[in-house]
Amino acid sequence: MTISGAAGGSGGERRAFITGAGRGIGRAIATALAASGLRLVLHAREHAAEASALRVELPGGPHALVTGDLTHAEELRRVFEEAWGAFGGFDVLVNNAAIYEEHSPLELDADAFQAAWARTLAANLDAPALLCHLAARRMADAGGGRLVNVSSRGAFRGEPTAPAYAASKAGLNAMTQSFAKAFAPRNVLAFVVAPGWVDTERVAPIVRGERGEAIRQDMPIGRVTTADEVAAVVRFLATDAPASMTGAIVDVNGASYLRT
Ligand SMILES: NC(=O)c1ccc[n+]([C@@H]2O[C@H](COP(=O)([O-])OP(=O)(O)OC[C@H]3O[C@@H](n4cnc5c(N)ncnc54)[C@H](OP(=O)(O)O)[C@@H]3O)[C@@H](O)[C@H]2O)c1
Repeated sequence: MTISGAAGGSGGERRAFITGAGRGIGRAIATALAASGLRLVLHAREHAAEASALRVELPGGPHALVTGDLTHAEELRRVFEEAWGAFGGFDVLVNNAAIYEEHSPLELDADAFQAAWARTLAANLDAPALLCHLAARRMADAGGGRLVNVSSRGAFRGEPTAPAYAASKAGLNAMTQSFAKAFAPRNVLAFVVAPGWVDTERVAPIVRGERGEAIRQDMPIGRVTTADEVAAVVRFLATDAPASMTGAIVDVNGASYLRT
C-alpha cells in the first residue's frame, strides 16, 4: 500500500493523527489504519483510558496518545504540537471528533440556542479548521500529506432539531474543499467522508431503541452503517485514493440520501 501525495516518516513509515479515537468511529478508524501499517497518534478527551488501552492493543506500535479539549485554542495548539512531535510529524490528519447536541429552534429561547450553536461550531468546525491549517502547512513543508474530515449526511439533508450540527458539517465540507484547492499545488490532499446513521456507542440508544425501526426503514440497505464501514472509506482516502479525488465528499449512508 502506498500513500501517494504524502511525505514519509522516518524510515518511510506512514503516520496518522486521529481525533476522538477513544470510541465509536474514531476507534474503528484507528483500528483500520493500524491494520494497514500506519503509525498512529490517537487523541481523546473524556475517553482517554479507552484510547490508552487501544494504543497498546493495536498492531504496528508503539503508537502515541495525546489528550485535550479541542475547543480551547491554547489546548488545541498544545495537542497539535504533541501529536506532531510524537513521531516527527504525521502524513495523515483525521478530524473525527465532534459533538451532536439537540437544540430545537422551535423550543429553545435565544440564549440557549446561541449557547448550543457556539458549542457545536467550536467543536465541529473551528477545531478541525485550525487543525487542518496547522497540519496542512507542516505537511506541505515536509513534502505532502492528507486531510480526512468526518462530516455527516445532515450537512445536505438538514437537522431540524440540531441546525448547528448541520451547519457545522456543511461548513466542514466547504472548508475541506477550500483546503483541497489551496494546498493541492503543495501536495496536500483533502477529503470528506459523510456518513448517515452509524451504529456507535453514542447513538446506540437511538438506533437500537424505539426509533430504530423507523431509522432502518429509511435506509434502503435495511440497516444502519457500521463504524467499520466508515473506517474502510477513511482508510482508502487516507492511503490509496488518487490525487485527482482531492476535494471529494464521499457519502456512506446506505443510499438513504442521494445527491446528484
Ligand atoms: N454515529 C453517527 O450516526 C454519525 C453519523 C454521521 C456523522 N458522524 C460523525 O462521526 C464522527 C464520530 O461520531 P461517533 O458517533 O463515533 O461519536 P463519538 O463516539 O461521540 O466520538 C466523537 C469523539 O469526539 C470527541 N470530542 C467531542 N468533543 C470534543 C472536544 N471538545 N475536544 C476533544 N474531543 C472531543 C470525543 O472524545 P472523548 O469521548 O474522548 O471526549 C468523542 O469520543 C463525528 O464527527 C460525527 O459527527 C456520526
